Amino acid sequence: MRSFHIQAGVGLTASTEHPTPRPSAGQVLVRVMATSVNARDRLIVAGTYAVPVPPGRIPLSDGAGVVEAVGEGVTRFRVGDRVVGTFHPDWVHGPFPGWGELRGTQRDGWLAQYLAIDEQSLVAMPDQLSFEEAATLPCAALTAWSAVRGVGPGDTLLVQGSGNVSLFALQFGRLQGARVLATTSSAEKARRLSALGASDVVDYTSTREWGARVHALTDGGADRIVEIGGGAETVAQSVEALAYGGQIALVGNLASGGGMELTRFFQRAATLRSVSVGSRSDFELMNRDIARYRLQPVIERVFPFEEAPEAFAYVEKGDHIGKVVISHG
Ligand SMILES: NC(=O)c1ccc[n+]([C@@H]2O[C@H](COP(=O)([O-])OP(=O)(O)OC[C@H]3O[C@@H](n4cnc5c(N)ncnc54)[C@H](OP(=O)(O)O)[C@@H]3O)[C@@H](O)[C@H]2O)c1
Repeated sequence: MRSFHIQAGVGLTASTEHPTPRPSAGQVLVRVMATSVNARDRLIVAGTYAVPVPPGRIPLSDGAGVVEAVGEGVTRFRVGDRVVGTFHPDWVHGPFPGWGELRGTQRDGWLAQYLAIDEQSLVAMPDQLSFEEAATLPCAALTAWSAVRGVGPGDTLLVQGSGNVSLFALQFGRLQGARVLATTSSAEKARRLSALGASDVVDYTSTREWGARVHALTDGGADRIVEIGGGAETVAQSVEALAYGGQIALVGNLASGGGMELTRFFQRAATLRSVSVGSRSDFELMNRDIARYRLQPVIERVFPFEEAPEAFAYVEKGDHIGKVVISHG
């Protein structure tokens, strides 16, 4: 089989042919059909991620495929099952146990033709999705689902930016019956966000006080905000945008830094809740919602396996609206 590996100072290098792994007890062998690239993956490959990554690591936390063989004692899957990996390999259910070992950093990831993987870190793919669509789910979709959990009809949701977590949050928010507003930095992306169901889109580069603008547009503020910036300025604007008693789901850190006046939280009786993707049982609940709502992940572009480095370069440009996927088929 072939795989891609991270080399410090170089980026991604393709392997020569090497033996396909054999599943040990409790593992299944997955023929990987598709993977997708997240914000975190490009930092990992660029060598700028917060966690050290050993040379030669296979990247990517998100992938989907077919079970090709099962090891001794496997009970959850059979040969031929269509499966998708979980982002937190060891978080099955219950409260967040801490970051642990993740694929693409402490463990090899999915950018290979085959992966021998613990059956506990897989879920069944939603029936109506292709492998390319399913590969978009483990990180961005589940994070969004966790961030907007409990939002329903009559609620107002604000998503920051047009990145992948925000797009899934917009989709889940709309399907759950909420009014959804978005911020963005370009007119073209604003058009795409409106087409996906955003009732209003505010340009956060030209409207520096976008919090007040959202508050005015919503006649009382947003009940839930998906916080992608995670910095003093963006959180301060989010508090401004928030309805009394509302909640900010802290997801990203793309604008992190600085300090803020925390007494602003009193003014809105605000809650700040941090999100760490989700557990395997959250993933299964999300997949039920995906099936029920017939949610269609937004895919920007699919690259063939051999062009994986180009997929990373494409994400680096930052022009995407939707997931960048790699097809291994
Ligand atoms: N906590 C978790 O569990 C979790 C899980 C997944 C991702 N994350 C984090 O969430 C963030 C977004 O991830 P992603 O996968 O959605 O990334 P992405 O697809 O690369 O999204 C990038 C987009 O974020 C928007 N953005 C950047 N800076 C912004 C700012 N200051 N204010 C508002 N929007 C801003 C921009 O949207 P426009 O181009 O429209 O301006 C940009 O295109 C990253 O920090 C990532 O590490 C956290």
